[in-house]
Amino acid sequence: MRHDSRSRLYGQGQSPERLAGWPESSPEPMRFSFAPSAFNDDLAWSPSGAVASPLTRALAQLGDLVGMAPVKAVAREICAEAIVRQHRQNAKLCVNASARHMIFTGRPGTGKTTAARAFGKMLAHCGLLSKGHLVELERADLVGEYIGQTAQKTRAQVERATGGILFIDEAYALARGGERDFGREAIDTLVKHMEDRREDLLVILAGYPREMSYFLSLNPGLHSRFPIHIEFPDFSERELLQIGERMFLERDYQLTEEARRILRQRLRKEREDPHFGNARSVRNLVEESIRRQSMRIVEMQEPTRTDLMLLQGADLRQESGASSPPHMAWS
Ligand SMILES: Nc1ncnc2c1ncn2[C@@H]1O[C@H](COP(=O)(O)OP(=O)(O)OP(=O)(O)O)[C@@H](O)[C@H]1O
Ligand SMILES: [Mg+2]
Repeated sequence: MRHDSRSRLYGQGQSPERLAGWPESSPEPMRFSFAPSAFNDDLAWSPSGAVASPLTRALAQLGDLVGMAPVKAVAREICAEAIVRQHRQNAKLCVNASARHMIFTGRPGTGKTTAARAFGKMLAHCGLLSKGHLVELERADLVGEYIGQTAQKTRAQVERATGGILFIDEAYALARGGERDFGREAIDTLVKHMEDRREDLLVILAGYPREMSYFLSLNPGLHSRFPIHIEFPDFSERELLQIGERMFLERDYQLTEEARRILRQRLRKEREDPHFGNARSVRNLVEESIRRQSMRIVEMQEPTRTDLMLLQGADLRQESGASSPPHMAWS
């Protein structure tokens, strides 16, 4: 993908510095190493963890995501910017409005929507957005069917999203119909409004890498309007396993050693599938195993608490002959 000199790429190509206190994938509780002196009282990180401010909680939520070093690097930069802006305001120095619109590229299930939602919360707590909500849209939400309708629809969505994040999934669909399509009008309307409202609106265009690259090549003016570009790599086998284990833990389940071994084997195998849906596929696998365990437990007279929590190898094992039944398609 071509990069405008004004846009910064965060992703695989570049290795962002490891974030001190933000382990890339550690089940340990988060510890921040932001210099306390960089925070004003309101934003102070409490090392004891006794009183966590909303910003600290939002950052912890972001930091807690498995992998995603580029996302965490951007979050830290924006957070630092917000704090310094506050200092500058207090010192009666000039504070410029800066656009933070972003492009997210990555394959299915690599956490693009999850990251956008976490950004929204963080930016709201940093005081850079007034609400921090996420409005997730696709082509049909913006493009109308007759002249004038597209601008109207797009304006209404911008209105809804103001104060938060306007997230357009599969953004390249806006260029689907070529020059004479109303998608063009949606892009133009959006660009105008996002410039006007850049102080209280963050626009994120998301999509799969190849399609987004093509979309941006058709709209060369867009690159410079989206100064931050984050690549979401596929999760490694280790990260997938960690995501799976966390999902089980969050749902109050535990794995036997055998179950964990089978989980790892299945993830290793499924990861090779071109249709593998990263963290979403892990979620499907987790939910499928829970259904299997329920079928086993429902036969028991009086299941104990341990029975209810424990997942055995058989619950994780792929049914023979059923490589991808419809209910667990890796979408
Ligand atoms: N880093 C992560 N750690 C733990 N869980 C994650 C992580 N990233 C994503 N997930 C989980 O995986 C699922 C899919 O994530 P998400 O919807 O954000 O992916 P996506 O990139 O937006 O996918 P798509 O391109 O298909 O829209 C969600 O249930 C989310 O909670
Ligand atoms: Mg998504």
